[in-house]
Amino acid sequence: MNEPTKNKIIQRMEELTKLINKASYDYYVLDNPTISDKEWDNLYYELLDLEKESGIVLPDSPSKKVGGEVLDKFKKVTHRIKLLSLAKAQSSDEIIDWVTRNQNIYKHQEEYSVEYKFDGLSLSLSYNNGLLQSAQTRGNGIIGEDVTEQVKTIRTVPLKIPYTGEIDIQGEGIIKLSELDKYNKTATEKLKNARNAVAGAIRNLDPKITAKRNLDFFAYNINFCPNKTFKSQEEISNFLNNQGFLTGSFFKKVHNIDELNNIINEIDIKRKNLDFLIDGLVIKINNLKVREELGFTEKFPRWAIAYKFEAEETSTILNDITWQVGRTGKITPVAELDPTELCGVTIKRATLNNYNDIMRKKVKLGDRVFIRRSNDVIPEILSVAETFESSKNITKPINCPCCGAVLEDTDTELYCPNHLGCRTQIVLKLTQFTSRNAMNIEGLSVKTLEQLYDKFDIKTFSDIYKLSSSTLSNLEGFKDKKISNILSSIENSKSVKLSNFIYALGIGNIGIKTAKQLAKHYKSIQNLQKASIPDLIVLDDIAEITANEIYHYLHDKINIEEINELVNNHLNIINESSVNITNDSYFYGKKVVLTGTLKNFTRQKAEEIIESLGGTSSTSVTSQTNIVLVGENAGSKLEKAKKLGIQIMYEDEFLTKIPKN
Ligand code: IVH
Repeated sequence: MNEPTKNKIIQRMEELTKLINKASYDYYVLDNPTISDKEWDNLYYELLDLEKESGIVLPDSPSKKVGGEVLDKFKKVTHRIKLLSLAKAQSSDEIIDWVTRNQNIYKHQEEYSVEYKFDGLSLSLSYNNGLLQSAQTRGNGIIGEDVTEQVKTIRTVPLKIPYTGEIDIQGEGIIKLSELDKYNKTATEKLKNARNAVAGAIRNLDPKITAKRNLDFFAYNINFCPNKTFKSQEEISNFLNNQGFLTGSFFKKVHNIDELNNIINEIDIKRKNLDFLIDGLVIKINNLKVREELGFTEKFPRWAIAYKFEAEETSTILNDITWQVGRTGKITPVAELDPTELCGVTIKRATLNNYNDIMRKKVKLGDRVFIRRSNDVIPEILSVAETFESSKNITKPINCPCCGAVLEDTDTELYCPNHLGCRTQIVLKLTQFTSRNAMNIEGLSVKTLEQLYDKFDIKTFSDIYKLSSSTLSNLEGFKDKKISNILSSIENSKSVKLSNFIYALGIGNIGIKTAKQLAKHYKSIQNLQKASIPDLIVLDDIAEITANEIYHYLHDKINIEEINELVNNHLNIINESSVNITNDSYFYGKKVVLTGTLKNFTRQKAEEIIESLGGTSSTSVTSQTNIVLVGENAGSKLEKAKKLGIQIMYEDEFLTKIPKN
């Protein structure tokens, strides 16, 4: 190829590269397409042909975005400037402390920038002469891995920028949640969460795989830029934008704690609608001069802090499985975990529903697993984050962990069939029977029930009504007063509302709410005993599994005898008074959560009142909650209600909304 032809080709290649890169920038960064897919294809294929013909590939050619050769291994690289991490705050108090500390130093209000804290993989990109030279993972902040070839494939990493000096730009590799969904729709091995998907895509030796994941990059910091000075974070952010980077579409300046708190609350709610993960906000002192004066601690800059939202998901190692027998004889696996922090509490155990669940999730001992805890429920294992060669299969138990009986396998669940001789099962059944929402018998703790089972063979509900003071006096630490309290509590329990009695039976899946619904509908235990499975399914809260549980429980020969014994010889069951719910009640159709201690009502009484007025009561605050009723010493539920903008009602107001006796 002669020189003039070659020059002409290069000139056209430069034109094409410019056109394509601008089109990609308009599309991915500005979210404002300026050419059609067809036009883009035409330009791109023309460029590929010219590259082939000339054997030349320009350094910022879009053809580099598909990924080059597979690498042998990742080269370790030492960052020229240490990449620091950020101090973390988990509550607004910690943020207030930090702002106050800064103010004490400066004696005036500083201006702060607030940005998203992106939850992906932290990367550092080095540019010189306007071209991307290399890219590294953050690693431990001192040494990272060279992922240049992988990063070059990210559609929102410009291979060429207008600034020609030396510059290191720090930011976060992320995958949009919509891209993750798209990928998972066709993938055989689905990616479990966005953060792992990014790490897996970038720390992958084959850059073509990185390219296929359609990652993005948000830039947030300049670590090294010897020939240019910046005045503020705002200027840095604008500069990064002008160089063609995405910066996350959110940048706010605030001047005091109130403004900061408002933004935190606003974003905590809005973040659920974002198409990428953020796990908090980063608050930085805007003025770079002030930053310089504040400097750094060993690990963190003093001029910035990360406010972390409450995480609902994390990962940890599964060490062991404990098989537990429950009240109904069902055997459930409980995961023993390496302790980890989630939503402000230490999690050591989580549930896996049953053996099938273990098989479906392909969980092995020693694996790192994802766990989630939402709204106060017991944490559960979602899936495997990482498995190891040393991980071991979990075996299905054959015998009951408590009594050793051979388990019944229904294909979905394992059951201990020894209902009359399995200590744990019986004690749990009696514990539920005596509990507050059931027969409300005070003084019979699990320990006492265990002793009663061990020493006096107390194992059925009706056995409780045969307890005498001489039997109880044989138990450790049982003196006259305690014994008479228990006996009078047993006596009081004999008059019981139908809903409490249904709940006391301990039928699988029947909580107090469903028991109330059954009581309201059937009006007597005899009517309930006559209900067929299709009859039961008609009720709101009852699906086929629960209907089956109720039906089989009430048609079991031993259970029938026990209910007859209780009804005929011990109890006076009061059928649910038909409460007169009218839709002009203030609480009609409203979901109410109670938090703290009320002065005039027990929690149970307050819940009864709300329900009698057509409302429902629940224990956790969600966006579905209508009212949070607040007593003394209210805690996190009140804070959450404020965050979600839910109506807050104090006891004084509550008193005005309920009928006077
Ligand atoms: S600034 C010297 N800004 O959070 C501090 N970091 O826990 C430079 N991160 O390793 C970082 N979003 O990977 C900064 N808007 C943001 C950020 C952010 C996410 C990450 C970053 C850092 C980690 C600290």
